[in-house]
Amino acid sequence: MKEIFAFIEQKKQEFAQLPFFEFLQDNSIDPRQRLAFTPCIAPFAMGFGEMNKDVFREEPTNDPIQKIINKHTREDDHHWLWFLHDLQQLGYDQTLSFSDALKFLWSEETKIPRQVIYEIYRHSFQAEPIKKLIVIEAIEATGNVMSSMVAPISQEIKIISNKECVYFGEIHLSVETGHTMCINNIIEIIDGIQFTEKTRQKAFELVENVFNIFTEFMDTLLIYAKTHSYDSRFIK
Ligand SMILES: [Fe+2]
Repeated sequence: MKEIFAFIEQKKQEFAQLPFFEFLQDNSIDPRQRLAFTPCIAPFAMGFGEMNKDVFREEPTNDPIQKIINKHTREDDHHWLWFLHDLQQLGYDQTLSFSDALKFLWSEETKIPRQVIYEIYRHSFQAEPIKKLIVIEAIEATGNVMSSMVAPISQEIKIISNKECVYFGEIHLSVETGHTMCINNIIEIIDGIQFTEKTRQKAFELVENVFNIFTEFMDTLLIYAKTHSYDSRFIK
């Protein structure tokens, strides 16, 4: 299992090199523009809460790994509320007709953010706890990169406009960092698990798949941020 975690760490380092993160760190771009991907992330931010509540969590359980996953889901199942808070802080909480909102959420532009949720679902629904744990750890790794890149931008926005982000801010970063460590505490439990060559291979493929879809996700956010001005309506 240690080698799976090492592989996740290696993939995380590669993930942090994506062009999207270069864009987020480009101080020559207005910080509000660097967060202009915000509407596009909505299907993921909203769907991930439900994923934690209804797919990752399984209660009651006697499985020690599932118990830890359940505890973890209690943290992540409500961060969508922070996202709604940030929409308001960043000026995206505009009045839209219901049909326009639906068209946006099911548009081509938000297709990949929706598919991220479908992919996680595909790998996690009624899956063994160890499989869910690998999926969660890989997602956490991507989330940690994302949070550590957006938190300084939120800080810049706070200085300019006195608006305080939570989902994109320091609070989310510190909470996510905290519960990644919580998951790492179970390494002792999972280290004892012996994989057959086939399941070992499958675990690597699973990590690959999660990083692949999140890479597509970040590429999509980059395109969106580059083609949508933060100060105009987000539906064309
Ligand atoms: Fe979160």
